[in-house]
Amino acid sequence: MAIVHMEGIGRTSAPDGQRLVLAIMAAGVDILHRCGGNARCTTCRVQILGGDPGPMTEAEREKLATLDEVPENMRLSCQVRCCDDLTVRILRRLVENPDMGDAGPQPETWPLVCP
Ligand code: FES
Repeated sequence: MAIVHMEGIGRTSAPDGQRLVLAIMAAGVDILHRCGGNARCTTCRVQILGGDPGPMTEAEREKLATLDEVPENMRLSCQVRCCDDLTVRILRRLVENPDMGDAGPQPETWPLVCP
């Protein structure tokens, strides 16, 4: 079980290996995930303030390489597994982007494994 601290929001727990975006959503937080967790939109971005988010997936690495600027420790929460306690700053929420209508399609569940 990993603990996810969400800056300014609170904390939640996640089964080891759960995708971070799903853990945040399960806590009732309206994090954007406009591509449904496929490393295409970057709206699920978070800044890692503490803990080890593990290695990047190939899809995440390729997507972040297309951005002009990547803030330090920014990760795509749909590509991060909760294998360590994490402290994160959520960078895109529906409440701050109401014109989007909804946060995005439900990301798939991944097998609960940690590297
Ligand atoms: S990049 Fe689209 S949901 Fe993560």
